[in-house]
Amino acid sequence: MKKNPSLEPLHAIETASVDELRQLQLARLKDSLSHVYSNSKAYRAKFEAHGVHPDDLVNLDDIAKFPFTTKEDLRENYPFDFFSVPMEQVIRVHASSGTTGKPTVVGYTKMDIENWSALVARSIRAAGGNANDLVHVSYGYGLFTGGLGAHYGGEHLGCTVIPMSGGQTEKQVQLIRDFDPDIIMITPSYMLNLADEMERQGVDPRELALRTGIFGAEPWTHAMREEIEQRLDIDAVDIYGLSEVMGPGVAQECVSTKDGPTIWEDHFYPEIVDPDTGEICTEGEEGELVFTSLLKEAMPVIRYRTRDLTRLLPGTARVMRRMEKITGRCDDMMIIRGVNVFPSQIEEHLLATDGLSPHYFIELRKEGHLDAIKIHVELANHAVGINSKDISRSLNERIKSYVGISADINVHTPGEVPRSEGKATRIIDKRN
Ligand code: DLL
Repeated sequence: MKKNPSLEPLHAIETASVDELRQLQLARLKDSLSHVYSNSKAYRAKFEAHGVHPDDLVNLDDIAKFPFTTKEDLRENYPFDFFSVPMEQVIRVHASSGTTGKPTVVGYTKMDIENWSALVARSIRAAGGNANDLVHVSYGYGLFTGGLGAHYGGEHLGCTVIPMSGGQTEKQVQLIRDFDPDIIMITPSYMLNLADEMERQGVDPRELALRTGIFGAEPWTHAMREEIEQRLDIDAVDIYGLSEVMGPGVAQECVSTKDGPTIWEDHFYPEIVDPDTGEICTEGEEGELVFTSLLKEAMPVIRYRTRDLTRLLPGTARVMRRMEKITGRCDDMMIIRGVNVFPSQIEEHLLATDGLSPHYFIELRKEGHLDAIKIHVELANHAVGINSKDISRSLNERIKSYVGISADINVHTPGEVPRSEGKATRIIDKRN
């Protein structure tokens, strides 16, 4: 790996004691509950229907007395009724498109934008970045929080930000060649697409100045990290976030440990619950990640159900707890003849199979009353000419023995699997 130059000092709370952190969380949680109760009609109604009052929170554990917030709640209050401040104080909105129905709209006050920028700056710092760095941002700018979130964070840290946004793949590569950025912020699937384009332009991605990639907005496996690090000779770290809670920078993996994103717990209180029953899981158990905002003004969320599956782990590089790299979303779980399968499991085995490129998608179909799965993969350039039947057999056997399902494998020639320019579409559901 290329060498990291000297780093900015950490923020005091990143190295505080656990007790100090918990005290700060408790004080902020009380304020946050009072704020939504006093200022959001939707939350006051929710709390009253549930028979709880902000005064019912004495300890952090009392958060379990409060009702969950779901994406449906936000949709029902579309567009702005979930806000906890008057519209004059909202200086920006973002929205996530979702696959069906109305988008989910989120709002920010001036202070929310400042806090968000500071957290993304903290995240870039944790990824090994500093004020001297050039940061190429390929997350989409617009209603999606990725582009502007990364942008403001880079500027806050004092970096030089290149606001490339998503798309224009050829031009992305040209600018990376000409500007020599130190850091790239991009989805992992789009990074792979750019690496292909670099090779097409005759550029060896390992020879570029790039030192670090800050990858997120979609699930990606450790196997994918290895593939990217190897191909580009960079450190690949994970950034997590969601628009309802803030955007990118809710959690960030530290480059020194690469052991899962550290949750910025001074801003967001995490819980893990059983996705079916909503019961709180025991420490370290896997379940659905739930967040409560501690400092948001415009649109705080109380016990927001993220649908993301992970577990909480103790802090290592920082005092705050970590989350395990996300294995999948509840919504992405496929049930194939009784077996629960996530795209990440397929990704892991695909990357362990010789002769395949990392580009893939999964097609679900009905065969009679049963669900059938077809995995579309693509030959790696170096494997052209090798019998693709052998490769598909080898992937099939891996999936059968490790995942426990029988899958149809369709091996395409290089370039045939559609490329991502943002969040990759991994599942094409043709069952209905
Ligand atoms: O994707 C925010 C973001 C932008 C995060 C750029 C990181 C980088 P949404 O569009 O609201 O916001 O989508 C949020 O994306 O609930 C996860 O399912 C997924 N996701 C985000 N980051 C990761 C990650 C942005 N590092 C949804 N690993 C979340 C796995 C992720 N999944």
